[in-house]
Amino acid sequence: MDAQRIPHDEVILVLDFGGQTAQLIARRVREAGVLSMLVHPGTPATELARYRPKGVILSGGPASIYEQGAPKFDPAVLEMGVPVLGVCYGMQLACSMLGCDVRRADHREFGRASLSISESGDLLHGVPANTAVWMSHGDQVQGVDERFVTLGSTPTCPHAVVRHREKALYGVQFHPEVTHTPHGTDMLRNFAYRVCGCRGDWRMSNFLEHEIARVRERVGKGRVLCGLSGGVDSSVVAALLHKGIGDQLTCVFVDNGLLRKNEREFVESTFRDHFAIDLHVADARRAFLSDLAGVTEPQEKRRLIGHRFIEVFKGEAERLRKTHGAFAFLAQGTLYPDVIESGHGATGKADVGGGYSANIKLHHNVGGLPEELGFDLVEPLRDLFKDEVRKLGEVLGLPEQMVWRHPFPGPGLAVRVLGEVTEAKLDVLRDCDEILLEEIVSAGLYRKTSQVFAVLLPISSVGVMGDGRTYEQVVAIRAVETQDFMTADWARIPYDILARISNRIINEVRGVNRVVYDISSKPPATIEWE
Ligand code: XMP
Repeated sequence: MDAQRIPHDEVILVLDFGGQTAQLIARRVREAGVLSMLVHPGTPATELARYRPKGVILSGGPASIYEQGAPKFDPAVLEMGVPVLGVCYGMQLACSMLGCDVRRADHREFGRASLSISESGDLLHGVPANTAVWMSHGDQVQGVDERFVTLGSTPTCPHAVVRHREKALYGVQFHPEVTHTPHGTDMLRNFAYRVCGCRGDWRMSNFLEHEIARVRERVGKGRVLCGLSGGVDSSVVAALLHKGIGDQLTCVFVDNGLLRKNEREFVESTFRDHFAIDLHVADARRAFLSDLAGVTEPQEKRRLIGHRFIEVFKGEAERLRKTHGAFAFLAQGTLYPDVIESGHGATGKADVGGGYSANIKLHHNVGGLPEELGFDLVEPLRDLFKDEVRKLGEVLGLPEQMVWRHPFPGPGLAVRVLGEVTEAKLDVLRDCDEILLEEIVSAGLYRKTSQVFAVLLPISSVGVMGDGRTYEQVVAIRAVETQDFMTADWARIPYDILARISNRIINEVRGVNRVVYDISSKPPATIEWE
């Protein structure tokens, strides 16, 4: 990010030593109303000073400070006259650079610990004298000299919180940014407000202005193509880009025939009619369905759909190139958790999308496409978490129904019609799904659940209707609550609502005579059935 373009006079920089929760630190600071972002840990102090930061946070990281090649920071950062907070690895590094005793670890300490506070100071203001903190470290600061005051300790960590007497330098051995440290947010707020003197008037609308300026600068007069899926992320990207570069943006929506009822119309009315975005719908329903004919194996379905999607998208890009001229950029709704999962971060997982790991199910996305088509990527949401994206969507004026949507998988209803996918089965499922969502919304449960959908099972069961025996299809209802979609619990939907859903489905959807409720958590089950 170009330091000259920071649109806000209050920013706290996070030097990113590669910890999985580094971005979470920045997010907590943003939640406190202060712009915060990650920068490379080796950025020289003179460069950092151009941002005119109110404070600097040194993040945690997976390395040991004793490892060869362990990341370091410019010692002049400690002389910038700007408050510094070292978190875990960041604390160990700062303390060892100042000559403190940092013990090499024989083993890692991981988990909850009890912090006893001996002196609150500004950082721990308002935090109870005994509070839980989350530890995840190898090395630890074992001894400090008279230049430091120890503000808190745990049974295994004598200097869990330290303050330098002369410099505005603090260190915490634990992770204040994770929810397992219940007062961690207070500590980060205290750092921003009390230690760095921030006002905290940064808002998501400032992010928007800033991103728009960035996109304009990056794109210049070039054309941008954006694959719109109707999900929150790509919708927010499209709305943001449209605001920034107007008709230099062209969106493509692929109708794969595996969408929910009225989905295509909803996307068209939102983007074409409401936002007046140049939206092109590629109607590829036939191609997708004929690929899927006779296919029952879930991975094969995903593979075929992914493959066809890329073909259709490429074809559409080529067609549009003839009428619109070349597209220099492809816009994607990559979020921060996707960046981690795609191997940039410590977890090194190989795929993207809604916190989804490719190791378990083949994932359908447009990976590889940008290089193949010679596009540069525009990813304005790369620094954000999902709920921040939703806030941005609200600021952009996207309809509530779009901003708060549950995720929907790329392969669509194909992985919810178990076994072979046919048009007739898709129609049955669409009707069930519509009733289910109507009832969930009208019971006020949509925002309380993370994902709710119907699954058409590949079996028939016996029923009785009037005087006659029926032998019809079975539908399963899946409703889950989750933070990150990596683990999930089944939602405790009240019985009377389940009863209404079941009655309506069985009465209103022809061909279904039984509804069951999925009470499996993830793991070991996954959220989708295929
Ligand atoms: P599972 O079934 O693995 O799903 O527990 C976790 C989350 O990921 C979504 N999902 C997908 N999203 N493409 C996507 O964009 C896919 O291929 C895909 N498969 C699963 C799923 O709906 C849930 O939110």
